[in-house]
Amino acid sequence: RVAYVNGRYVPHGQANVHIEDRGYQFADGVYEVVPVIDGVLIDEELHLDRLGYSLGELRIAWPVARPVLRLILREMLARNHLGRGIIYFQVTRGVAPRDHKFPARTKSSLVVTTKRLAPPAPALLENGVAVASQPDIRWQRCDIKSLSLLPNILAKQAAHESGAFEAWLVDANGVVTEGSSTNAWIVTRSGEIVTHPTGRGILGGVTRRSLVQLAEASGLALVERGFTLVEAQAAAEAFLTSSSAFVLPVTRIDGQPVGDGRPGPVTRRLREIYLANVA
Ligand code: PDD
Repeated sequence: RVAYVNGRYVPHGQANVHIEDRGYQFADGVYEVVPVIDGVLIDEELHLDRLGYSLGELRIAWPVARPVLRLILREMLARNHLGRGIIYFQVTRGVAPRDHKFPARTKSSLVVTTKRLAPPAPALLENGVAVASQPDIRWQRCDIKSLSLLPNILAKQAAHESGAFEAWLVDANGVVTEGSSTNAWIVTRSGEIVTHPTGRGILGGVTRRSLVQLAEASGLALVERGFTLVEAQAAAEAFLTSSSAFVLPVTRIDGQPVGDGRPGPVTRRLREIYLANVA
């Protein structure tokens, strides 16, 4: 396995960053996860757009020009012979003596790694997954894909310890914002697909965005609005989306079955539509 660190391709086991990198000290940086299917980057431009947005909001400079980053990503796919999986890249504000304010002069750091991922086990798609609710204790800029993920990690771990696959984060109004690393969706009993609107409260998922467009193009009813945990438990179907899970049925919420407890037809159709479009 090969990693990319600030201009060099190095064996994964020997890939190091400086101890005073601001990513290490402050989580002062952002990241992207891009799915790879058959050696092809899925929705690459949307991920690069979002990287640019996150960097801009934090006033971190691009580490290399966008076309150069595209070349590095391709080189990493080739060097790692990656067919199916994800490519991870993170940009930090760079190395400087520890001080909260931005350093006067520093160069952004760029690290890229790849991970092979087998297609999901058939049982996962046939049975769906369980989610567990957790309070959404994150900050008010969840639209930035920040490296600072402590609340997400704690929520995911709590969900894991309760036997669930993912945590669904619930805000002070009882509304499900999103998952710890996925977007959250339901299908109401009248067949309407519902997901939280974008804005500062959630990460605008690339998978979410593609799926909204694909659903609308397929003539499916879709509305972007908040839904509560209670509404989700009473829904016909539920599912989650992300660059690593694509579209995954959710069949239990806090131990309660969703609908008949089996993945539903709308979720199945959306997964098919999504995969047909990217593959
Ligand atoms: N997570 N919401 C959060 C909080 C996320 O971290 C992610 C992505 C998503 C889904 O976004 P997308 O469809 O662009 O992957 C929603 C990545 C996969 C991760 O942290 O590993």
